[in-house]
Amino acid sequence: MIIGGGPGGYAAALYGAAAGLDVAMVENQKVGGTCLHRGCIPAKALLETASVRRALGGAAEFGFTVDAPTLDFGVSQDRSQSVIDKLHKGLSSLLGSRKVRVVNGTGRLLGAGRVAVSGGEDGDLELEGDAVILASGSVPRTIPGFEIDGKVVVTSDELVKDRDLPASAVVIGGGAIGCEFASMMSDLGTEVTILEALPKILPGLDADVAKVVERSFKKRGITIHTGVAVTGHEPGAAGTTVRFGDDQSIEVERVVVSVGRRPLSDVLGLDGTGVEVDERGFVRVDANCRTTLEGVWAVGDLIATAQLAHVGFAEAIVAVKDILGEDPVPVDYRRVPWCIYCHPEVAFAGLSEEAARDAGHDVVTVKHRFGGNGRALIIGDADGLVKVIAAKDADGRAGQILGVHMVGPWVTEQLGQGYLAVNWEATVDDVAQFIQPHPSLSENFGEAVMSLTGRGLHG
Ligand code: NAI
Repeated sequence: MIIGGGPGGYAAALYGAAAGLDVAMVENQKVGGTCLHRGCIPAKALLETASVRRALGGAAEFGFTVDAPTLDFGVSQDRSQSVIDKLHKGLSSLLGSRKVRVVNGTGRLLGAGRVAVSGGEDGDLELEGDAVILASGSVPRTIPGFEIDGKVVVTSDELVKDRDLPASAVVIGGGAIGCEFASMMSDLGTEVTILEALPKILPGLDADVAKVVERSFKKRGITIHTGVAVTGHEPGAAGTTVRFGDDQSIEVERVVVSVGRRPLSDVLGLDGTGVEVDERGFVRVDANCRTTLEGVWAVGDLIATAQLAHVGFAEAIVAVKDILGEDPVPVDYRRVPWCIYCHPEVAFAGLSEEAARDAGHDVVTVKHRFGGNGRALIIGDADGLVKVIAAKDADGRAGQILGVHMVGPWVTEQLGQGYLAVNWEATVDDVAQFIQPHPSLSENFGEAVMSLTGRGLHG
C-alpha cells in the first residue's frame, strides 16, 4: 500500500508491480503529484516558452527578419497543460496495465499493514497489506506576513497555472524554484527582482557556476538583492509594496514566494503509530527508507533528502527492493544529479570545489568554457562552462573525479557522463580515452577531463 501518487509513490507502484507485488496506491488528487501537475513539468514547459522567445530575439543573427514578437501566455499555458495531460494519460494507463489499484481519497496510516482512506471518490475504506510506503510529498513553505492569495502573492502552485504574466514581480528566495521562475518571467518581459536571505543566490552551487548564472541574470535585467530580510508588504491598487533590508521597498504587481517546501506529514495520522517525524516534519528513515515502525517505509519529499523527483524515484526502488528482501544499494546522496532549468541551465553531480576542499581533499580543477566549443557557437548560446574537480593522487596528478559542474546550453542533457564518472568513481585517465562526438556540446566535458591528464587538445 502506497500513500501518495507522485514520483515517489508511482515509481514504487510501477516498480513493485513489475516485481510481482500486489499494489494499491492512494491519491487524493491526480496521479503524477506535484512534479507532473504543479512542479517540474509545467515549470519546464514555461521555461521552454522563454527559450522560444530568446530564439526569436536572436533570429536576426541567422538572417530572419522577425517583427517584435507578442506573447499570448494563455496559449503557452494550454500547451503546458497538453504536455501534462499526455503524461498523465500515459502514467494512468501504465498503472492500469500493471494492475496497480489506484484508490481515490486521502490515506492515513492506522498502523503497520493498515491504511484508512477517506474523502475521495472511492468512499471511506480500509486497506490491509504486508507493507506500507508513505509518499505524500511536500507543499510550498510560506513566510509570515505573506499570505498566499493566489493573485498578488503566489507560490509555484499558482504561478504554473497563471494565464497572465505580471509586468513586475518580486521573487522571495533565490533557490532552484526562485531562479527558474525569475529566469522565465524575465525572458518573457516581466521586470524581476530576487530577494534572497543568504549572501548569494543558488546557495550550495559551485562558486564558478553560480557566478555565470548571476552575471547572466544581471545582464538580462534581473535585479538581485542578497543578504536581505523581507519584512512585510502593503497591498495597493496595482499590486503591493514589498519591504526588505534596511528600509528598502519595491512596488510590484506580483510576489512569488519560493522559500523552500515542507513535508506533508501532518495529514498522515502518524501520531501514536510509532513512525517518528523530526522537528521540521520530515519522516525519519534509515538508508533503506525504513521508518521507525517495522513494515512502513517513506520516500520522496516526505523525508529529509534532496527534494528532487528523480531522487524520489531512486528511493522508491530502494524501498521496494527492501520490501522484497533484495538488499538494495542505498542512494548515495552526495552524488545525485542536480539540474536547474533556468537560463543558463545548471547541472552537477558530486562535490563542488569548496565542498571537496572542506571535506579535506587535495584537489585539481579545470574549467572549460563553451565559448571555444563549435556547437555552442553554432547554436548561438556559448555562455557557460564545465568544471571538473578531481582528487590529487599520490604523485600529484589528477586522479578520481569527485565532481562535475556545468552551466550553459543544454547542460541538463549533458550531465549523464559526468554523473556516471562521479558515481563509477572513475579517474581522469579512465574517462579521458572516451571519444566525444564532434561537433557537440559534450566535447566540453571530454576536453575538460583530457586537460586534467595534462594533455588537452584545445586547452
Ligand atoms: P530552496 O530551499 O532551494 O531555496 C529557497 C531559498 O529561499 C534559499 O536560498 C533560502 O535561503 C531562501 N529563503 C528562505 N527564506 C527566505 C526569506 N524569508 N527571505 C528571503 N529568502 C529566503 O527552495 P525552493 O527553491 O523553493 O525549492 C524547493 C525544493 O524543490 C528544493 O529542494 C529544490 O531543490 C527543489 N527543486 C528543484 C528544482 C530543480 O532541481 N530543477 C526545481 C524546483 C525545485
